[in-house]
Order: sequence, then C-alpha cells, then structure tokens
Amino acid sequence: MENKIKELKEQFELRMAEALTAEELEALRVSFLGKKGQVTELLKGLRDVPAEKKKEVGQLINDLKTSLEGEIEAAEESLRNKALADAINNAKRYNPTLPSSEPKGSYHPITLVQRDLEKIFVSMGFTVEDYFEVTDDYNCFEALNIPKHHPARDMQDTYYLENGQLLKTQTSAAQNAIMKKYGAPLRAIFPGRCFRNESTDACHENTFFQMEGMMIDKDISISNLIYFMKTMLSEVFEREINVRLRPGFFPFVEPGFELDISCLICGGKGCPSCKNSGWLELCPCGMIHPNVLTAGGIDPEEYTGFAFGLGMTRLAMMKYGIKDIRDFNSGNLKALSQFENN
Ligand code: DAH
Repeated sequence: MENKIKELKEQFELRMAEALTAEELEALRVSFLGKKGQVTELLKGLRDVPAEKKKEVGQLINDLKTSLEGEIEAAEESLRNKALADAINNAKRYNPTLPSSEPKGSYHPITLVQRDLEKIFVSMGFTVEDYFEVTDDYNCFEALNIPKHHPARDMQDTYYLENGQLLKTQTSAAQNAIMKKYGAPLRAIFPGRCFRNESTDACHENTFFQMEGMMIDKDISISNLIYFMKTMLSEVFEREINVRLRPGFFPFVEPGFELDISCLICGGKGCPSCKNSGWLELCPCGMIHPNVLTAGGIDPEEYTGFAFGLGMTRLAMMKYGIKDIRDFNSGNLKALSQFENN
C-alpha cells in the first residue's frame, strides 16, 4: 500500500507539471480526487488493509489527499494571478511624466458658469429646477403679469409653433409652474435656454441662456435681494463685488431694478468697458408682483419674494472676456476648446 501511495504521488507530479490551464487542472483533480478518482479508490481499498496497519495507512492516504488538494489549489491561484498580471501589463500604460497625446474634450463656457452658479446657490439653500424650452403664452407672458397686447411683449418676439406654443423668451416663464409645484416658502434657481427673434450681432443672439432665481418667504425684502446677489456675484468673480440698484421696469416685479456691478476692469474708477461710469449692467431683478404670486397660488398678503434673471451668456462673456456672443453657438472648436474642464 505504501508503494502504491508513493507511485500515485509521482504520477500526480508528472501530470501536474503538464497541466497549464484551469481546465487541465480540473481534469487532474477529477482523476485523482473525484468520486472515482485514484486517491478516492485507494481510500476505499482501506477496508482490505489489516486492522493493525489501518490507522497508519489511512493517515498516509489522507496526507496524500491533502497534499494533492493543496497543490491544485496553489496552481489555480497562480493561474489567476498570472491572468491578472497579464491584464495589467496589456492595459494601456499610464505615465505621469508624458503629455497627453489624445485630444481632450472641454466644457462649454456657459456650462462652466452654470455649474458655478448652481454650486453657489445650492450652498445657500436653493434647489435647481429644470423647465421646458417650448411653453405657452400663459406661462411665458400672462402668468407674469404681461397680458395680451402689453407693450412689454414687443421686446420679446419669439418663434411660434403651429399649435400656438412658443419657444420661451425668458426663464421667468418657469416661475408660475415652480410656485405651483412647491408653494411658499421656496428658494429655487432655474437655468435655461431662451429664444428671441433678434437680428444677431456681437451682442445679440436668437438663442441665449439665463439663470432665473426666486426666493419667497415671510418678510423677504430688498435687503435680502441685495445680500444674495452680492454674495453670489462675489463668489462667481472670486473677488469682492459692489452692487447698486437702479429702477427698471418689468411687469412681473414691483419695484423692479437693474442691478449693476462695479466694473471688473477698472474696479469702479471708470474706463472704456464701463463707458466711464464705473458700473456694468448685469442682472435685472425685483420684488415679485402680487399678481404673479397670486397666479402661482401664493397669498401676497402673507408672503413676499424677490426674483432675478441673470444673463448667463452675458456673465460668461464677462467672466472669460468673450467679445462676440456668436462664438458660443458657432461650434468653433478653436474658440470653445480653450475652456478648462473643472
Ligand atoms: N425675464 C427678464 C428678461 O428676460 C429678466 C428679469 C427681470 C427676470 C426681472 C426677473 C426679474 O426675475 O425680476 O428680460
């Protein structure tokens, strides 16, 4: 019996040396350790061994079994490691000292500005809302206190669909739906693409982006408006920004303002960029008109709020010194790929 055990071990070693794949290892395991494997048969033969030797021989066969199992497992493990090492070696090499040879995509400057703004407003407790590009007369005008034939519509001619819907001219078009969705109190910003029937030049496009915002609560006043705008703009431009309000007319706010910021180029002293005034016009805003709150299902006796409509395209032009608004939609990769991915 001892000889048989030795012989089996030798046979196993010979075949082991030839087993190179997982399948070959499995076949080897079956032929030695499977139900009808040679070691299993040997164990069965134990009943013919004389009683006084049974324990010793049994021990030898078990040792053989454990050792064969161990060898197969170790061989399988090393196969797995090799497969992993091969995968790593064949993967594309990473070399931190080489400049990238592959062209890299970059975000559109408006996306960058939008993400900046969203981050800042979210940190001040605002939610970010989405809205349609195609809407209707009610949302774009009527709900904003701009009835049919109101002269304010003249500045916002747009593209109409045959079914009477239209491409929104201003992100304010989402105000009504958002008020109805959340009720008061609410803090929301809603960036979006707007369309107007414009003759294009360096400062005008038929397609542009705005970022609208609303804050509605008890006792909201103009000082809240100034505080939020000043904080937000200082963050966007990464420096202390002074703001001033001038009266401005928009039917959906009362009072309405044009918010100016101190000129980014001269810091307020006066230069050609700010036409020597020291100020740049940036963001129309105001206290939400009671009619607009009522249309949104909010009681103007109980709640007040401010709204603003930041020209995101204009902001991107200021932030990055882009002189021609048409560059944004030009698809000109030479212009657009200069912006950082951050
Ligand atoms: N929607 C206006 C426009 O596109 C901008 C605007 C003005 C938005 C005042 C506001 C606001 O929310 O309060 O001309």
